[in-house]
Amino acid sequence: MPDHGEGHGAASAPRAKFKAMTEGTQEDWQTIGAQFLPFAAAGGKRVLDHLRLLAGDFGGFPVDRLEHSLQTATRAHRDGRDEEYVVCSLLHDIGDTLGAFNHPDIAAAILKPFVSEANLWMVQHHGIFQGYYFFHHLGMDRDMRDGFKDHPHYQHTAEFCHQYDQTAFDPAYDTMPLEAFEPMVMKLFAAPKNSMYAAASVNE
Ligand SMILES: [Fe+2]
Ligand SMILES: [Fe+2]
Repeated sequence: MPDHGEGHGAASAPRAKFKAMTEGTQEDWQTIGAQFLPFAAAGGKRVLDHLRLLAGDFGGFPVDRLEHSLQTATRAHRDGRDEEYVVCSLLHDIGDTLGAFNHPDIAAAILKPFVSEANLWMVQHHGIFQGYYFFHHLGMDRDMRDGFKDHPHYQHTAEFCHQYDQTAFDPAYDTMPLEAFEPMVMKLFAAPKNSMYAAASVNE
């Protein structure tokens, strides 16, 4: 169990009185809602904690999955990409620990409320586009991405894989540390652009 200390989420903080949601009152939901807001706003910290799980996980690659993530983001940042794009680059493989067979879907689900449609599509489909660089070595079709060749975000995604993702396995590269990306991650996750909860009103 995570230690929630004295802050939001702690057992000592005010709690709703219902035993089933059918008994819930507006007061109960104000209690919960008031704690949800600071919890949600600190989402970036929890995402970074999860990203750190990739440290030491090489899976046969020349660099571990955290270094690959940091190097992808560093290359995008140094190439002048905006903060949203850099955060997408940093997190594109965050699902490796939870979704061995669909890791891009995990990153896409985490980023979905916070990023543009183009960047979301890029993250969600990067696995197929990255395959252009290695599927043929595994008896698969490297041109699987051609199934999307008329899609408006084809080029955006092909570019990400070519310039930043498939190039980010160099142990000698001067990769920026995770701390350098922390402010942009905290900022991106502080407020959603698209969420069905955005319309909820909570009196703090
Ligand atoms: Fe990936
Ligand atoms: Fe990657």
